[in-house]
Amino acid sequence: MGNQAKLSADGKDYEFPVLSGSVGPDVVDIRKLYGQSGLFTFDPGFTSTASCESALTYIDGEEGVLLHRGYPIGQLAEHSSFMEVSYLLLNGELPSKDELDTFTYTISRHTMLHEQLLQFYRGFRRDAHPMAVMCGVVGALSAFYHDSTDISDPEHRTISSHRLIAKMPTIAAAAYKYAIGQPFLYPDNSLSYTGNFMRMTFGVPAEPYDLHPAVEKAMDRIFILHADHEQNASTSTVRLAGSSGANPFACIAAGIACLWGPAHGGANEAALNMLHEIGTPDKIPHYIERAKDKNDPFRLMGFGHRVYKNYDPRATVMQKTVREVFDALKVDNPVFETALRLEEIALSDDYFVEKKLFPNVDFYSGIILSAIGFPTTMFTVLFALARTVGWVAQWNEMISDPHQKIGRPRQLYTGPTQRDYVAIDKR
Ligand code: ACO
Repeated sequence: MGNQAKLSADGKDYEFPVLSGSVGPDVVDIRKLYGQSGLFTFDPGFTSTASCESALTYIDGEEGVLLHRGYPIGQLAEHSSFMEVSYLLLNGELPSKDELDTFTYTISRHTMLHEQLLQFYRGFRRDAHPMAVMCGVVGALSAFYHDSTDISDPEHRTISSHRLIAKMPTIAAAAYKYAIGQPFLYPDNSLSYTGNFMRMTFGVPAEPYDLHPAVEKAMDRIFILHADHEQNASTSTVRLAGSSGANPFACIAAGIACLWGPAHGGANEAALNMLHEIGTPDKIPHYIERAKDKNDPFRLMGFGHRVYKNYDPRATVMQKTVREVFDALKVDNPVFETALRLEEIALSDDYFVEKKLFPNVDFYSGIILSAIGFPTTMFTVLFALARTVGWVAQWNEMISDPHQKIGRPRQLYTGPTQRDYVAIDKR
């Protein structure tokens, strides 16, 4: 018999199995807690709760480690491509050359959108936030691809996964084009996944589109850095939506809605806005003081993380990528100097040191994306594009799990106890 955890409550003792993963903290298996004791656990924000078993991504927040299927994110960002990481997340192993070629080809065959779906965009206001458009259009995919929504059929699941990964760049680019009033560009499947997205976003039908190889590489790397991140809020949303048997297009639309929030995917937009607001390094101390003031809602955006209590390993790669993009495009934006100085000042300040608040992936990503030419409103859209592969891989893992149940948390009820209805003239 393995380790057991003991709980004493109301004079009774209970024992629960302790389960071990391949690495990381053990977990107390409390699935029988309510049945045996009549007690629930209380864990708002799931700070101590493992919601599922997963073999995809491992994070050691104390050490600043992020592994996809065992491979460190730094190595993947340096040597791999987004298509290769997508294959890895979906299938569990790095692909052979043939497997990668086949996968890339398959994805490229699904990049077009149903013509009728393109009409859908015209229902939105031109000034709509592209995340609002993404939520709507991705949710609408289930109305267009009925032939891949039977979640009990593994082939349907594979096709819908490929469709989502393939169509997301087309959907994202169209959201951008619609906002600026330019014609949509059809995909060009002779280009790389990332090159195709960049052309659909920044190209115009009137002339050829040239993409600097360093920018293509930087974008591909940004996609790798955002591909998956364990059971974060949007991934948990996708799993929860999917646990009821909802189709994958609807589940990913739910994930996009969750990702939009400024405490999650919206933070890169907020971080860049903050850096612009700070402006010059001499203003940093004022903003540091505001961030520390409990009575001021201001927080340093792009700082702190629920899991990382060390430098986010993705932020390390991002910081390096800023320099590469700036060199390639020959830009020199003072906002980068402000960011570096802000990081330096914050990391030598007791408040941030004691609370273990380090830059997260969003701190530098906005600077790169803005140098490449993306407006801030597109930042979270790019995050959603890349995270789609993680959402889809996690969703597939959940559906294939024989222990999968509908997600149904309980609560600590603090409302009125039962009382009788009072007629309106007596209230
Ligand atoms: N600036 C100032 N203080 C902060 C910050 C910050 N960015 N982040 C956390 N703190 C403080 C909190 O005030 C709190 O202080 P207290 O213990 O005195 O009350 C303490 O640090 C712990 O913070 P919590 O909010 O309880 O930590 P939690 O794990 O719930 O939040 C979060 C993590 C939401 C990321 C938070 O750090 C934050 O709001 N950061 C800014 C937004 C951001 O960058 N989000 C991106 C996350 S990464 C991603 O989604 C890809």
